[in-house]
Amino acid sequence: MAEVLQKLILDTLDVQSSIKDTRDLVIPGQTRPASSNEDQITILGALNSLLSREMIKYDTHEIISHVLTAEGALILKDGSHEARVWSVLPMKGETPMTPARLKKAVGDETAKVGQGRAFKNGWIGKEGDGLVKAVSEIQDATQIDLQEIASTGTLKAGEKTLADLRKRKLVSQKKGQWFTAHKGEQFSTSTAKPETDLTADMLVSGSWKTATYKKYNFEAEGTPTAGGALHPLLKVREEIRNIFLEMGFAEMPTSSFVESGFWCFDALFVPQQHPARDLQDTFYISDPAEALPPNPDYYKRVSTIHEHGGYGSAGYRAPWSHEESNKLLLRTHTTASSAHMLYKLAAKCRGESTEEIPGIGASRSTGKDGKDDGFRPAKLFSIDRVFRNETMDATHLAEFHQVEGVVADRNLTLADLIGFMRVFFNKMGIEQVRFKPAYNPYTEPSLEIFAFHPMLDRWVEVGNSGMFRPEMLEPMGFPKDVRVHGWGLSLERPTMIRYGINNIRTLVGHKVSIEGVENSQAVMF
Ligand code: PHE
Repeated sequence: MAEVLQKLILDTLDVQSSIKDTRDLVIPGQTRPASSNEDQITILGALNSLLSREMIKYDTHEIISHVLTAEGALILKDGSHEARVWSVLPMKGETPMTPARLKKAVGDETAKVGQGRAFKNGWIGKEGDGLVKAVSEIQDATQIDLQEIASTGTLKAGEKTLADLRKRKLVSQKKGQWFTAHKGEQFSTSTAKPETDLTADMLVSGSWKTATYKKYNFEAEGTPTAGGALHPLLKVREEIRNIFLEMGFAEMPTSSFVESGFWCFDALFVPQQHPARDLQDTFYISDPAEALPPNPDYYKRVSTIHEHGGYGSAGYRAPWSHEESNKLLLRTHTTASSAHMLYKLAAKCRGESTEEIPGIGASRSTGKDGKDDGFRPAKLFSIDRVFRNETMDATHLAEFHQVEGVVADRNLTLADLIGFMRVFFNKMGIEQVRFKPAYNPYTEPSLEIFAFHPMLDRWVEVGNSGMFRPEMLEPMGFPKDVRVHGWGLSLERPTMIRYGINNIRTLVGHKVSIEGVENSQAVMF
């Protein structure tokens, strides 16, 4: 059917070059023009199919058409109430029909409505108590009108009659459409579907010569590939790693998520009573609960500086707790890993020979008296995960990533630290930086780093930094003229700012937006 109708449209266009009104078409298998709504819907299907092959073009015209109600449809079939009344009545001169019998013959409703109208039309008359036909022939105008409406959707006779039929609830209005059609770019009278493939069979049979081919659609979007995608945090991590590497830094090993209180806090000269060590801030491990003991000499030096001072420092003068030092915990900062590395870096200064640290030791550095005291300058960095027992909200999770840089050399100054950070943050695309005095137990002086964020139009804290205290460095064995400065920042904050994410849960965790991960662009600081 669809094919035949398409063919009809194409053949009509071939002869007339346009179809002015699709309501004039006669759908194959029908005898009257396709003027009803249903007909036009059928035609629309054929038009769309031809349009998709660019064989035709068409325009749509809106109209209000009329359809029969259930009652209208009944009248179309059996005639109007008045016609039905008239048809059952006897002719004039025969025995009249009583109203009671009429009701029986046509039903209460039809008898009631029909009688009045039939009288008004002069079709029936009274004789005694009964009713008879007054004319021998009638024209059931209502039925004729409904017939026209059923097949054309309207009434040529006029709006007044239509309104009357609407009032009688025999017809109702319905929005309809009709169309005008023209030839399209690919017009032909053949409805054969264009080929999408050139096959071996077509080559063998020679049918390829006459076949029509479907045009390539270069506008069509390809299906997205289902490949993996790098998480935004990984992309930003890679960028920051590259910045460190191009500044000559070596990456520290940071695989130990579990550390002891000794390495996470004591070695950094964080007092044992410091709130950061509280259960509220730090996750402690229950099994095993205790760490392996560190080197006993170093342990002694660290406990002594805490309890009694030394190297020119007064210390905290608080009783030392071995238990506190030996507790196992999830590291709260990667500075614990930095402490391990700095302790290793100082090994030669302590007169121990330990394994080489990759990326360090290329340049020698002699002390004040011109002697090699074993110290080797180092630039180290790490980017890894840390854990804090925080109340979670839109910007805080119990675990996040820390970016950390550490520089060790003789006679470094605060200006070196500030200079380094300017270069580093500049490479991250942060041009305006400000420094604010701050406090860290392990650095003095300490600086918070603020960057002006043009999108947020305000200064945001981007990091924390400082010169590591002699109380941390000297027990490790570093010569007095060696200074170490360091800075740390979270990986999540620049990532969230970079990708315009304001809830960390879209970035990390079970609510992560996979679509966001797949669609996030590469970063370019
Ligand atoms: N560990 C610090 C923090 O948790 C960052 C830092 C690293 C500060 C090195 C100074 C030196 O924020």
